[in-house]
Amino acid sequence: MKVLCYGVRDVEIPIFEQVNQSFGFDLTLVADYLNSSETAALAKGHDAVILRGNCFATAEVLELYKEWGVKYVLTRTVGVNHIDVAHAKELGLKTAYVPFYSPNAIAELAVSLAMMLLRHTAYTVQKTAQQDFRVDAAMFSKEIRNCKVGIVGIGRIGLTTAKLFKGLGAEVLAYDAFPKEGVEDICRQVSLEELLHESDIVSVHAPFIPENGRFITREFIANMKDGSILINTARGELQDAQALLEAVQSGKLAGLGLDTLEGEGEFFFKDLRGHKLADPVVEELIQLYPRVLVTPHIGSYTDEAALNMIDTSFTNLQDLMLTGASQNEIE
Ligand SMILES: NC(=O)c1ccc[n+]([C@@H]2O[C@H](COP(=O)([O-])OP(=O)(O)OC[C@H]3O[C@@H](n4cnc5c(N)ncnc54)[C@H](O)[C@@H]3O)[C@@H](O)[C@H]2O)c1
Repeated sequence: MKVLCYGVRDVEIPIFEQVNQSFGFDLTLVADYLNSSETAALAKGHDAVILRGNCFATAEVLELYKEWGVKYVLTRTVGVNHIDVAHAKELGLKTAYVPFYSPNAIAELAVSLAMMLLRHTAYTVQKTAQQDFRVDAAMFSKEIRNCKVGIVGIGRIGLTTAKLFKGLGAEVLAYDAFPKEGVEDICRQVSLEELLHESDIVSVHAPFIPENGRFITREFIANMKDGSILINTARGELQDAQALLEAVQSGKLAGLGLDTLEGEGEFFFKDLRGHKLADPVVEELIQLYPRVLVTPHIGSYTDEAALNMIDTSFTNLQDLMLTGASQNEIE
């Protein structure tokens, strides 16, 4: 079984090789994304491809794959929007995805961003890096055990985030569109309004559902405590970026931590130093560092998450090969 894996980063190569010891696939690992006819052609001579986000298995690409004898088009992501699944089905190509991986990966990033903003770490080290060792009022901080943290969406990632904040001593409030049972020892479930009114830090872990539109709106922000901190490591499409910008500029939000931005494909993973960004709102948000902290969608960029994604993808492929079916086939 010859398998081409797209978008493989150097740090992931040893993990691919380690996991493959139990599978024995003939692997080709490439850094390229599937985003052009040239990178599509890399699949010639392979039985299967494993994609990442920003790899686009369009109808045209799938037709080529079919012609070249590629039988399996898998993705090592939770999201599957980058594969034309209906067309793959028509062509008889099998597809599968990774339903979940280490929730701690994203939860730890959310906590890190929140703690950096609460303790003014970025602000402070920016000064000491310039040999300015004075202590000023902007470095004075509330302790997390004196804070209420509001978690929006207590699924896998949100609940893990809640546990981490609870472990740090915070009082954790939670709101989920579908209230959960058995979480009372970690968090207190309240209405969204109460959560926003009460919380010093709000961390969003709800999915983006296009029909529901934006979730972090002007009204959402207006309901938050003055001088609170907002973290979004879920999806950029959830937020009204202009409203966030104004909230930080006015001081309504003391800090903002984002791992995702709407339209992030235009700039994340690129070196744009010295260039103007196409989106002026994003440009202004970035300039508000260190009150605004932006990470380029690195929530899942950890050892454990990579291991989970690769292991599940290889298991999916093996199941499809041996039985013709996988529990993670894309419907
Ligand atoms: N930054 C990253 O790298 C990264 C990686 C993986 C996932 N994510 C994001 O994290 C989100 C959460 O992932 P998960 O694995 O915990 O998903 P999950 O399905 O386990 O949990 C989502 C929870 O949100 C709740 N929910 C849905 N709509 C809601 C709403 N409008 N208000 C409040 N709660 C709502 C659901 O009931 C569920 O409990 C994903 O949707 C994804 O967008 C980000």
